[in-house]
Amino acid sequence: MTFSIDQYRLEGKVAVVTGAGGRGNSIGRAYALGLANAGASVVVADLNADGANAVADEIQAAGGKAIASVVDITKPDSVASMAKAAVQAFGGVDILVNNAALMAELGYLQAIDIPLEQWNRIMDVNVTGALNCTQAIVPLMRARGGGKIVNQVSGGAFPAISVYGISKLALVGLTTTLARQLGRQNINVNAIAPGNTMSDAGKLLTPEDSPFVKLLEATVAMRVRGQPDELVGTLLLLCSSAGDWITGQVLHVDGGWVLRP
Ligand SMILES: NC(=O)c1ccc[n+]([C@@H]2O[C@H](COP(=O)([O-])OP(=O)(O)OC[C@H]3O[C@@H](n4cnc5c(N)ncnc54)[C@H](O)[C@@H]3O)[C@@H](O)[C@H]2O)c1
Repeated sequence: MTFSIDQYRLEGKVAVVTGAGGRGNSIGRAYALGLANAGASVVVADLNADGANAVADEIQAAGGKAIASVVDITKPDSVASMAKAAVQAFGGVDILVNNAALMAELGYLQAIDIPLEQWNRIMDVNVTGALNCTQAIVPLMRARGGGKIVNQVSGGAFPAISVYGISKLALVGLTTTLARQLGRQNINVNAIAPGNTMSDAGKLLTPEDSPFVKLLEATVAMRVRGQPDELVGTLLLLCSSAGDWITGQVLHVDGGWVLRP
């Protein structure tokens, strides 16, 4: 079959994006708007009801299809309600973007002295939360003959500098393992690892004078800092039929920070 640029279009597809109602200029918001722009109906899911409603309203005002869903991804009952809302509004789910996470509030916590309660909370949101959503949504994907799952990891997983990074490495493990298990069911599972992205949360975590930015400046091949919108093209590749033969991969979108063979 000859490649067509229309393969990036998502008309008739339903996408659930967690963490899409975040602080102001969030990555989840950019993902939700990008998917809606490509033609998908979007479930804007977040713990933050005001944020989720604002992003769903923004999509509708631009002529797209969206609903807001208030969810706590650590709670299976809450995630089940999110999945139910998607089916009621749009008839099913084809795309799941596991983007919700704790990040800015964690700073650079180290494993050696972190209280166990805090460790469990981080893993609960950043790892188990993605698993809960996947377990709830995969049966809906199977019912539609397949689907696409994108897990939001981080370049910060690779330099081994924080508990946040450990949680994102666990999410890489979930990505590759689920890719192997779900491939024959026509479900692709990939991850995006952004570099230092200037969402409102990213600005909070790494202000201009942060030592972390100095560290990046010494190593990153191109521009150190990116904008949420610069991640959307990769998301559309992984969520559309243009990316049908890609699975189990971590795509680094970071100006050449994490360089792997
Ligand atoms: N900004 C960066 O530099 C950067 C870099 C690499 C990866 N990331 C990742 O990108 C994603 C989005 O980051 P962001 O910068 O937009 O941050 P953000 O804080 O704006 O987004 C995270 C969202 O997750 C939501 N959330 C947290 N706990 C939740 C729960 N239990 N249930 C439902 N929703 C919950 C928050 O309400 C928030 O809206 C995160 O996974 C983050 O780890 C960010």
